[in-house]
Amino acid sequence: MTTNRPTGPTTPTPASALAPAPVAVVGLGPMGVVLAETYLRAGHPLTVWNRTAARADDLVARGARRAGSVSDAVAAAEVVVVCTKDYESLYEAFGDIEVPEVPGRARPLVVNLNSGTPEEARTAASWAADREFGYLDGAIMVPPPMVGSPGAVFLYSGPREHFDSARPVLEPLGDPRYLGPDTGLAVLYNTALLEMMYANMNGWLHAAALVGSAGVPAADFAELALGWFAPAVLAPEGLRAGAGDLDRAEYPGELGTLRMNLNALDHIVRTSREVGVPDDQPRLMREIAERAVAAGYGDLNYLAVFETFRTAAGSGAAR
Ligand SMILES: NC(=O)c1ccc[n+]([C@@H]2O[C@H](COP(=O)([O-])OP(=O)(O)OC[C@H]3O[C@@H](n4cnc5c(N)ncnc54)[C@H](OP(=O)(O)O)[C@@H]3O)[C@@H](O)[C@H]2O)c1
Repeated sequence: MTTNRPTGPTTPTPASALAPAPVAVVGLGPMGVVLAETYLRAGHPLTVWNRTAARADDLVARGARRAGSVSDAVAAAEVVVVCTKDYESLYEAFGDIEVPEVPGRARPLVVNLNSGTPEEARTAASWAADREFGYLDGAIMVPPPMVGSPGAVFLYSGPREHFDSARPVLEPLGDPRYLGPDTGLAVLYNTALLEMMYANMNGWLHAAALVGSAGVPAADFAELALGWFAPAVLAPEGLRAGAGDLDRAEYPGELGTLRMNLNALDHIVRTSREVGVPDDQPRLMREIAERAVAAGYGDLNYLAVFETFRTAAGSGAAR
């Protein structure tokens, strides 16, 4: 797909739907290996590079080409998928890379799937621009076994034209979702979703420890906690219905107030202490509710805590 193009273009090559584009995967940890395997299965000419070269052996045995250096990998590909530990490791891997202009071939597009912060992603976009690479930032929202399945959501942000041109290379990995031109958006969404995951997970783990203090096995508690309570009381539909209230900053307290919830949080702290389970997690939640009450939201419903979380840029006024 690199033939018949004008010489010396400086923008990334549009990935053609006619033939699978040559792809490089840089970084072959547990996730990078699965990305590379997915490209092999999808028929993309694949070049791989990893700091520890031996991690590429199996892929090479199955048809991938081993690059001797990152610049070798970049020179061989139209789209370079980077999947190392973080942004710092991206810079270390690429080093002082110099990719020669290849007549008839555009500068490659770097699709960076590392984890980090929004500002790190924006800095990486500038780093790529300095080297005349196209740059798209991304975040993988699923564990390795789900990669390549229709439910595997990958988030992307950066110039829309890069997302559109790379789409045929992004689609084999799962369900690509474009979030917007701000390069930091993919990792911002990623960290927000991960925060939800850890908060939920820790809620379950601490609750299981509380009940476990009375000798109840987690598997027994799961029947009620995960079989009924989570779907009935913490139902995503309910949270989704309340999302509009967050945007409107409307938190009517007729059915229950934040002050009442503060009382419940105090009971969780005192119960934790009573049964010998660490109380730091419920103490933090109680402190958050106390702060909201002190800010004047006590007679509104619990969602008014959002007013103490949101940044000045997105602030509402609910008191
Ligand atoms: N695994 C998951 O479930 C999952 C899910 C979603 C997103 N992710 C993201 O995917 C990325 C890769 O994750 P992973 O699970 O494959 O393992 P990882 O431990 O986060 O990353 C391992 C990879 O990074 C490379 N690396 C680390 N430091 C380096 C450096 N200074 N220079 C060059 N390469 C360096 C390693 O090379 P060596 O082999 O030489 O050590 C290896 O290829 C991470 O950003 C992670 O957050 C992972």
